[in-house]
Amino acid sequence: MINLIDILFTLIIAFTILIALSILWPLLTGAAWSPASRKVVHKILEMAEVDSDDVVYDLGSGDGRIVAEAARRYNARGVGIEVEPLRVIWSKLVLRFLGLNGLTKIVWGDVFNQDISNATVVTVFLWQRTNEKLKKKLQEELRPGTRVVSYIWTFKGWNALDIDLEDRVYLYVIGKSDY
Ligand SMILES: C[S@@+](CC[C@H](N)C(=O)[O-])C[C@H]1O[C@@H](n2cnc3c(N)ncnc32)[C@H](O)[C@@H]1O
Repeated sequence: MINLIDILFTLIIAFTILIALSILWPLLTGAAWSPASRKVVHKILEMAEVDSDDVVYDLGSGDGRIVAEAARRYNARGVGIEVEPLRVIWSKLVLRFLGLNGLTKIVWGDVFNQDISNATVVTVFLWQRTNEKLKKKLQEELRPGTRVVSYIWTFKGWNALDIDLEDRVYLYVIGKSDY
């Protein structure tokens, strides 16, 4: 017969595995979690000149703050793609709490396996090597004129059309910046 100790033990093991996966998974797929500050989130969206006609994809959306701000401040549609399940659950709850469900969506998955062709603005705060890996996908899937804003890391060899040196935010435009 299963007793309470067994159930508790199983729950602790399952919880430990979930936490370990949550830490390791993003490290393997692209970047660890580290949220952009409020100031930087505003700067990213301002540099992309987001407006209500835009569909903003945040690749590696963390707690959903960029997607939330794009919807709240600019009435834009927002899609976050996040690999880490606990952050997906958390960001979905936050967006629901903020009443932004109609404009926003969080997808659980690896950005490399998701269709992003619908985006008019793409934001990334990943790692340099992940940006390099992403280049091909961005060029293949995004339409000319799509703005790509990267925080901290660049797309090496691409021509940034606007740079904020203070916060290290870089604006690229597909068809103009990429070679
Ligand atoms: C540095 S954080 C940025 C979070 C958020 N975009 C922000 O600016 O506050 C990077 C996020 O990307 C997620 N991530 C890393 N690799 C990923 C991948 N291949 N697919 C989806 N999400 C990924 C991590 O789990 C983490 O939440």
